[in-house]
Amino acid sequence: MVKKKGIKWVVKRDGMYWPSEAMKKSANMSDSKIYSKSMKNPVAFWEGLAREGLTWEKEWESKNAYVEKLPYFEWFKGGKINFSVNCVDRHMGNSSRTALIWVPEPVDEKPIILTYGELYNKVNRFANVLKKYNVKKGDIVSIYLPMVPEALIAMLACARIGAIHSVVFSAFSADALKARIQDAEAKILITSDGYYRRGKPESLIKKAKSAIKKTTIKNVIVVDRIGKKVRGKMFKDFETEMADVDSYAKPEIMNSEDPLFILYTSGTTGKPKGVVHDTGGYAAQAYWTCKWNFDLKPEDTMWCTADVGWITGHTYAFYGPLLTGATSLVYEGGPDFPNPGRWWKIIQDHKVNIFYTAPTAIRMFMNINQNWIKKYDLSSLRVLGTVGEPIDKVSWMWYFNTIGGGRCPIIDTWWQTETGGTLINTLAGVGPFVPTISGKSFPGLSHKIVNEEGHSVKKGNKGFLVQQSPFAPSMLHGVFKNHKKYVDTYWKKYKTMYDTSDGAYMDRGLIRITGRTDDVMKVAGHRLSTAELENAIHDNSLVLDVAVVSMPDKIKGEAPIAFVVLKSGKASKNLEKKLKSYVDSKIGPTARPRRIFFVADLPKTRSGKIMRRILKALLVNEEPKGLMTLVNPESVAKIDLILQGQNILKK
Ligand code: WT7
Repeated sequence: MVKKKGIKWVVKRDGMYWPSEAMKKSANMSDSKIYSKSMKNPVAFWEGLAREGLTWEKEWESKNAYVEKLPYFEWFKGGKINFSVNCVDRHMGNSSRTALIWVPEPVDEKPIILTYGELYNKVNRFANVLKKYNVKKGDIVSIYLPMVPEALIAMLACARIGAIHSVVFSAFSADALKARIQDAEAKILITSDGYYRRGKPESLIKKAKSAIKKTTIKNVIVVDRIGKKVRGKMFKDFETEMADVDSYAKPEIMNSEDPLFILYTSGTTGKPKGVVHDTGGYAAQAYWTCKWNFDLKPEDTMWCTADVGWITGHTYAFYGPLLTGATSLVYEGGPDFPNPGRWWKIIQDHKVNIFYTAPTAIRMFMNINQNWIKKYDLSSLRVLGTVGEPIDKVSWMWYFNTIGGGRCPIIDTWWQTETGGTLINTLAGVGPFVPTISGKSFPGLSHKIVNEEGHSVKKGNKGFLVQQSPFAPSMLHGVFKNHKKYVDTYWKKYKTMYDTSDGAYMDRGLIRITGRTDDVMKVAGHRLSTAELENAIHDNSLVLDVAVVSMPDKIKGEAPIAFVVLKSGKASKNLEKKLKSYVDSKIGPTARPRRIFFVADLPKTRSGKIMRRILKALLVNEEPKGLMTLVNPESVAKIDLILQGQNILKK
């Protein structure tokens, strides 16, 4: 056993982990009474945080600090702020400090270090590029970029001029991008020629070009990442444009409740919805959750491994660390390139202090030769985080011991695209850190576990997780152009409480999340709805009917499985392959079904509802229940026959 170096930030007591004296002494927040203190007057509490943590052009009037007219509510109403000023300008007193360490995937390429001063210059310039192309306050800018510094620059430039960014995950397909451009009516797209993945250049521009056809996009600004020539009048080179403009752009003064960005996410219906996030409240929560959850300090380097295409990338790879004046590390590529030691070498080389990743990555690394990890010095780490899905005890302990050297707290953060920032977790300086348990509502917030009727369940019983008023400052401000969807998804069931769609129970006074209670899956931490995937497959002209269910997967958590009834065409391995690549083109490879089974009929009720429960039971070799309610019970035995001998669970 290698002797673990580094300071011990946790101690064990009563079968739980707690912050050590060293942690308590140095932590940004170590007062366990912060919870009760904050709840005496949560609005006043958040007002204090917003005032202390952010730079405002003008403060809100206290009577408008929180205005609730459900299902909408606004924070710091009337307060004036610019988000990019808070991320960059206000750190210019220390402009030589590092804002961003960007690690390219190719090992022969050097990392790019951007100081706050350099970032300031680039953000200002790109803000002027956007202006040159007539982007105005309130306009929506689509960003389809891999993990490159230009993603951060473009996002902050939008914020500087009051434009609203809509980042689309670069692994999404052309169709998926098109749908998001159309919904947002974006007039400009920022993209790249491509990126490196597992040692190979991958094209992005091809997908971008096909996506913008017949949309509102007038101009495309292209980052040169893989040296591809991009021709056409609409296409401009990022660097050339940057060189050609003024180096200062006056920040647009925004209202706290003006939208900062839209991010599309999957719900239970076929179409992804545009989650809208406001400026001031989002900033306050991004700032304080970094400070208190992860104990992030300006001298720290934080590495959140999430892609900017997801909310975690927005809030904890980019915005949170910058708001606090810390250093963010961003890595371009695959976790195992050129070998499975890459991530751990990055931590060693750049002395990463705060490391935030997902259970799916943790499970992947648990299953490799551990020497790839043990040979690196990870003693710079102080706090570890996890997010995206429930983490099991074995993975938690592995993360704690192998990555954290048994020294670092694990902050299991529960939140959602809709919540903008973390809502339920333990604070690094307060504890306790308990495997599989997220913890308490962040100070100033409160959650309840209720039954179908909205009444609290008995302590320890399972129920539905809801959030209570006052709702978190970083909560979504509606679904873009879709009031009905907003109401139906989050407010219909409990009216005065926000419906999270997650299940949970209380354990020793702490919240333990059990997972989604709707038809949303988590595939390698990525959110995917059954309906969205079914819609995509249904669009194929060969398909008559389709049902998608998830099954457990050792690394990815869940994997989608499709059952297809064909209109025409013959069931074959080849057709399965064809339909899989069809899904790639409709949504992206993250949504690709693990298997597609061709069946004669899907189990349905008299009203025509597909009984996915039954399919799921068959997949995991359980006795399907409720066959009596089916119009076609004979379909079940036939499907079972097809599944037999397929060894699906082992794959
Ligand atoms: C769903 C939201 C928010 C960042 C990434 C995911 C699940 C998230 C945890 C956790 C158990 C978790 C929930 C939630 N989830 N964090 N720590 N423990 N489950 O964002 O893609 O919007 O998904 O992820 O089911 O509803 P998202």
